[in-house]
Amino acid sequence: MNDASSGISSMMKELRVFPPPPEFARQAHIRGMDQYKALHARSLKDPEGFWGEAAAELHWFRKWDRVLDWKLPDSKWFAGGKTNLAYNCLDLQIQRGRGDHTAILWEGEPGEVRRLTYRDVHREVCRFANGLRQLGVRQGDKVTLYMPMVPELAIAMLACARIGAPHSVIFGGFSAQAIVDRVIDAESHYMVTADGGYRRGSVVPLKANVDEACAKTNLVKKVVVLKRVGQDVPMKSGRDVWWHDVVESASADCPAEPLDAEHMLYLLYTSGSTGKPKGIHHTTGGYMVYTYLSAKYIFDLKPDDVYWCTADIGWVTGHSYVVYGILCNGVTCLMYEGAPNHPAWDRFWDIIQRHKVTKFYTAPTALRAFMRQGDEHPNKHNLSSLKLLGTVGEPINPEAWMWYHRVIGKERCPIVDTWWQTETGGALISPLPGATTTKPGSATMPFFGIDADIVDKNGTSQAANVGGFLVIRKPWPGMLRGIYGDRERFERQYWSEVPGVYFAGDSARRDEDGCFWIMGRIDDVIKVAGHRLGTAEVESALVSHPKVAEAAVVGIPHDLKGQAIAAFVTLRVGAAPSDAMKKELTEHVGRTMGALAKPEQIRFTDALPKTRSGKIMRRLLVEIATKGEVKGDTTTLEDFSILSKLATKDEE
Ligand code: WT7
Repeated sequence: MNDASSGISSMMKELRVFPPPPEFARQAHIRGMDQYKALHARSLKDPEGFWGEAAAELHWFRKWDRVLDWKLPDSKWFAGGKTNLAYNCLDLQIQRGRGDHTAILWEGEPGEVRRLTYRDVHREVCRFANGLRQLGVRQGDKVTLYMPMVPELAIAMLACARIGAPHSVIFGGFSAQAIVDRVIDAESHYMVTADGGYRRGSVVPLKANVDEACAKTNLVKKVVVLKRVGQDVPMKSGRDVWWHDVVESASADCPAEPLDAEHMLYLLYTSGSTGKPKGIHHTTGGYMVYTYLSAKYIFDLKPDDVYWCTADIGWVTGHSYVVYGILCNGVTCLMYEGAPNHPAWDRFWDIIQRHKVTKFYTAPTALRAFMRQGDEHPNKHNLSSLKLLGTVGEPINPEAWMWYHRVIGKERCPIVDTWWQTETGGALISPLPGATTTKPGSATMPFFGIDADIVDKNGTSQAANVGGFLVIRKPWPGMLRGIYGDRERFERQYWSEVPGVYFAGDSARRDEDGCFWIMGRIDDVIKVAGHRLGTAEVESALVSHPKVAEAAVVGIPHDLKGQAIAAFVTLRVGAAPSDAMKKELTEHVGRTMGALAKPEQIRFTDALPKTRSGKIMRRLLVEIATKGEVKGDTTTLEDFSILSKLATKDEE
C-alpha cells in the first residue's frame, strides 16, 4: 500500500466492525446508512438547499440573500443575512421554553457545583456585555480571554458575540509570552482574566501572567479580573477592574446586535509549520449553522442530554462543542474546571455518575492515561447513564478505542471518532451514531456537505487503501475565512499544495467501504496530547535561550501523549552540555510557550544533519530519537559524519 507520488503508505489493518446498537439507532436523528447516504448525496448536490434548511432551524434578524458565494479560496455563507450567535444560544432557547433548563452545569476542581439555567446565562451574558461596553468595547474590537474553565469564560465569549466584539481565547496553560504574541497579532486592547484557576490542587497564576504580558506590550487598555480563587493579586489602577464591579451596576437588558453573517466571531491561534502562530478567523452565520447541525447529528443531541466535553475552552473543541454548537441545541453542557486525576484517577467517572452524563467527548491521550491506571477506577462507578462516547484530537489507537468501548461504554454506546481542525470549525469526518458502522481507529465518513477525498500531489483521487493527502473539495459553512493579517499564508497553507481544494495537512487513506483512516500530519506540526505545536515554535523558543546556537525539534511516538517532543540542541561556544543545562532549557521552553511544549528529550550535538541546501533533515532526527540510529535514505545529507556522532550521543 504505497503510493509513489504522495510517498505515503499505510500499514494499519483493523478488521473489527461495530454496527450501531439497534436501540440507539431506533431513537437517533439519523437512523441508518440509507438515510445518511441519501442526505449526504443531497447535501453535495444541492448545498444551498441543504444548508438553507439547516439555517432555517435557527433565528435570523434578516434572512440571507444567498446561501453560498464561492470564489476560491474565499467563501461567504448566508451573505446578506443578519443573526447573532449568542441570541441563538440563549434568547432562542428561552423562547422555545428552555429558560429554566440547565444550560451550564459546572464543577470546580475543589468540588463545588454550580447550575446555571438558560435564563441565568442570558442574564449574566447581558450584564457582562453591557459591562464590556461601559469599558469602551465596541463592535469589531477584539477581546482577549485568558481564563480558567469556569462558567464566566463561556459567559464572556457569549457577551462578546452578543455585541459583535470578536474574542481571542488563549488557553490558560500558555505562558505570558504566548499572550503577548497573540495580543499584538490580534491588536487586542481588552482582556478578561481571573485571579487564578485550579489545576491539580494548585493555583494557576493567570493574573500574574497577564501582568507579565502587559509589561511587554502597552496595547492592553483594560483588564477585567474575575475573582475565582480569592488570591491576592495586584490591581493596576486605571487598567484593571474586577468582574464583579463591572457587572454590579450593569443592566441585564442588552438586546443582541444583529450582525452580518460574515462578521468575525472569533480568532483562535493555532500552530503551523512556521514559528508564528496563526490567528484562525471564524465568522458568525456559517460557523453557527455548522456547529449547530454537526453537534445535533454527531452527538445525537436530545432535550434531556447531559453532555460533557472534557476539552478546555481554550481549544477549538471547546469553542464549538462546549459552548456554541451545544448551547444552540438547548441541552445541558457540563463543564469541569480541573485535572482528570484530581484528587484521584476516578474523577471523570465520578462526575459522570453524579451528574448522570449521557454524552461524553474526550481525547485519546486521556483514554490512554486512564487505561494505564487500570479498570478499577471506572469500575467503581455507575456509568449506566452514558449513551454515546466521542473522541477528538489525534488518531485513536484501536486498543484505546476497544478499552473505551468495553470499559466505559459497556459495549452498548456508539463511539464517534471525530476528525477536524481549528480551521474547519466543526467535525468534518465522523460516524453518525445511529447510522454508521464504526471501526476502531477510523473517523469513518464525511459529515453532510463535506466532500472529502484522498489525493496525490496532482490532485488525483487515490484508489481504496492507497495513502495520500486528505483534502476537502467543496466549501462548508464552518470553514476558516482566513489567517488574521496574513492572506499570503492562508493561500499557501491551505489552497496551493493541491490546486482547487482545501488541503488539511493530514495524510490518510480511505478503505473499500469508504471509511477514512487518518494517519497524521504531513507538515512540521506535532500533536502532543492532541494539542498542536509547531516544531518551528519550539525551536525558536530554544534558540531564544542565550546559550543555544541552533535547535531542531521533532515529534516522536509516545505511549500516553501520542507524540512527544525530542529536541536536538547545539550550544554556543563556552556553554557545556550537562543535565542541569537540559533542565534549564526545558524550563525555558515551558516559560516561553507553556508546559505543553516542554521537550521530552534533549540531545546536545555539535551540528545538525542538513541537506546541501541547508534544510534540517528531521526524518533522520526522528530515527535517531526513536531508534538511536539511521537506516533511511541519506543521499542528500551534506555531512555524513554528523550522523554517527549524533547516534553515539546518548540522551542521558
Ligand atoms: C489536527 C488538528 C479538532 C479539534 C482538536 C484538534 C488531528 C484531530 C482527529 C481524529 C485523527 C485527528 C489531525 C488534524 N486530529 N482529530 N479524530 N483522528 N487525527 O484541532 O489542534 O487544530 O488539530 O488534529 O492531525 O489535522 P487542531
